[in-house]
Amino acid sequence: DKGNHRHFMEKEIYEQPEVISHALSRYMDFASNTISDNINAIDFKATSSLAISACGTAYLAGLVGKYWFERYARLPVEIDVASEFRYREMPLSPSQAALFISQSGETADTLASLRYCKDHGLKIGAVVNVRESTIARESDAIFPIMAGPEIGVASTKAFTCQLAVLASLALGAGKARGTISAEQERELVRHLAEMPRIMSRVLNLIQPQMESLSRELSKCRDVLYLGRGTSFPLAMEGALKLKEISYIHAEGYAAGELKHGPIALIDENMPVIVIAPFDRFFDKTVSNMQEVAARGGRIIFITDEAGAAASKLPTMATIVLPDVNEIIAPMIFSLPIQLLAYHTAVFMGTDVDQPRNLAKSVTVE
Ligand code: M6R
Repeated sequence: DKGNHRHFMEKEIYEQPEVISHALSRYMDFASNTISDNINAIDFKATSSLAISACGTAYLAGLVGKYWFERYARLPVEIDVASEFRYREMPLSPSQAALFISQSGETADTLASLRYCKDHGLKIGAVVNVRESTIARESDAIFPIMAGPEIGVASTKAFTCQLAVLASLALGAGKARGTISAEQERELVRHLAEMPRIMSRVLNLIQPQMESLSRELSKCRDVLYLGRGTSFPLAMEGALKLKEISYIHAEGYAAGELKHGPIALIDENMPVIVIAPFDRFFDKTVSNMQEVAARGGRIIFITDEAGAAASKLPTMATIVLPDVNEIIAPMIFSLPIQLLAYHTAVFMGTDVDQPRNLAKSVTVE
C-alpha cells in the first residue's frame, strides 16, 4: 500500500524518520545515551581487522562504515564489492571478523563472499533487513536494520537504516576497544537520537526545491557528483540512484580525483553536484568546486548553513541543510540526493518503482 504517495519509493523516502528511530532504538539506550550490549555479538575487542562485502547501495553504506570503524574504533577495514571479494582469494585469518550488508539477504555474490569467510574461520556478522534470509541464517550474529519491507527497486530507507546500524556498530566497537571515551559515546548517541526529528524537518524543508531542480536535471545527459570523506560514498550513491531510475548517466567521484580525469568533462552542459557539509574536508572540496566554476560548470551545492555562509562561489543552486554533527551528516545528506533522483525520474515519466532491466534482489551472479 502506497498510502497517499505516488510511488513506493516516495513512501519509503518519507518513512525514514520513523524506521531510523526503530533501528537506533535497537542498538542504543536513550535513557543513558549509551550503545547497547547487543552489538557485542561480535567481539570487536578481539578482532584484528574487519572485512566488509556487499553490492550496490549496500556496498556504499559499507564504505561509509569503513570511515567510521577506522575513525571511532581504530579498526582497519578491508571492503570490496562482493563480486570481486569472492574471487580475490584474499588472505584471511580467524582473528578477523567479517560483515555482510544486504537489504534482501539473498544477493548471490554477497552470500558467496560470506561462505568464503566462513570457510576461513572468520566470525560472521550480517546487517540485513530480511531476518529470515539466507545471509541472516548463515551468520553468527544478525544486526537487523529494522527498515520494514522495501518495495522500490531503488534502495532508500534501507540505505539510511544500514548507515544507522553501521554507526552504532562502529561506536560500539570503539567502546569495546577503548578508543572512544564514555563522554564521547554519550555525546554521539545524543546526536544520533536527534536524527529522526531532523530528517522530518529536512524532508519538508527541501521538497519544493528538489522538485524544481529536477526539471533542470531531467534535461541533462550526464551528471557528476563529488564528495570527500563520508561524502565520497554518498556521491557514488547519488549517481547510482539517479542512473537507476532516470537513466541519466551519472558518476560519483572523490572530489580530490577531479584533476585526475573527470575535469576534462566539465562544460556548461554538465551539472556537478557537490556534497559538502562544513566538516574538516570543506575547504578542500570548495577548492575543487572553484575548479569546476572556473570551467563554466554548473554547480548544485549541497551543504549546511555554516557551509553556505563560508562559500561565496556562484552556483546554479545551493541546497542548505541544518548544521548537524558529523556522525549524522551522511544520513541527513542522503535525503536531497534521494529526492533529486526521485523527482527527476517522476518528471521524466520513467517507471520509478520498477526501473527497466533491474531486479530488487539479484540472486544469480
Ligand atoms: O539486497 P541487497 O542489499 O543485497 O542488494 C544489493 C544491490 O543489488 C542493491 O543495493 C541495488 O544496488 C539497489 N537497486 C540500489 O538502489
